[in-house]
Amino acid sequence: MYMDAMNEILDKIGTIGIVPVVVIDRAEDAPRLGEALCDGGLPCAEVTFRTEAAAEAIAVLKREFPHMLVGAGTVLTPRQADQAMEAGAAFLVSPGLNVKLLDYCLGQNYPMIPGCMTPGEIEQAMERGLRTVKFFPAEAAGGIRFIRALAAPYRDVRFMPTGGIHAGNVEEYLAFDRVLACGGSWMVKGDLIAAGDFDRIRQLTREAVQLVARCRGTGAERSAG
Ligand code: 3PG
Repeated sequence: MYMDAMNEILDKIGTIGIVPVVVIDRAEDAPRLGEALCDGGLPCAEVTFRTEAAAEAIAVLKREFPHMLVGAGTVLTPRQADQAMEAGAAFLVSPGLNVKLLDYCLGQNYPMIPGCMTPGEIEQAMERGLRTVKFFPAEAAGGIRFIRALAAPYRDVRFMPTGGIHAGNVEEYLAFDRVLACGGSWMVKGDLIAAGDFDRIRQLTREAVQLVARCRGTGAERSAG
């Protein structure tokens, strides 16, 4: 049952292709943010618990845009995991593999994508039945070349690289069929949200969607695999 729910969410993330990573200071900005993301074609957000507004922003997005896939990011503690799920988050993401937190979330049946950067971390996630992990910080840790090497021994593990990904390099990640989706903040930068520049967010989101379509439509590995 848990795995069915988890797989359903992962399928949605895979279809969308890019998960906008949001840092939001004021929950009252959430409706216009959600509108820009949905209009732009990415009905998805990972709202990070780096600000006090995170839980409320998740609740607002869920209420205003019920079809949106809203998750919580930078989840570091069981308390934040509870807050995120109570607010309506569909999934949780952590930057690292915090075994205590991961075991808590699995015990609560919370869909969780933990960050892994080493073979040992991947194996700990696998031991717990997970087959999809975040790879963070993607660019600084070695980028797509590193992921390809890391993926080789783990034939059924998929990655959600995040960190340093942008319109100029996202295609090289998406072209690898073991990349489920990429996370990134480039279309929803905090300064754009704070400045109320939702038109720019909409435009950058549209451009991101075009990159996914272009890459997945022509990606030889993806169509072959
Ligand atoms: C994350 O929270 O996963 C990253 O900080 C997002 O990385 P980016 O801001 O480089 O896209």
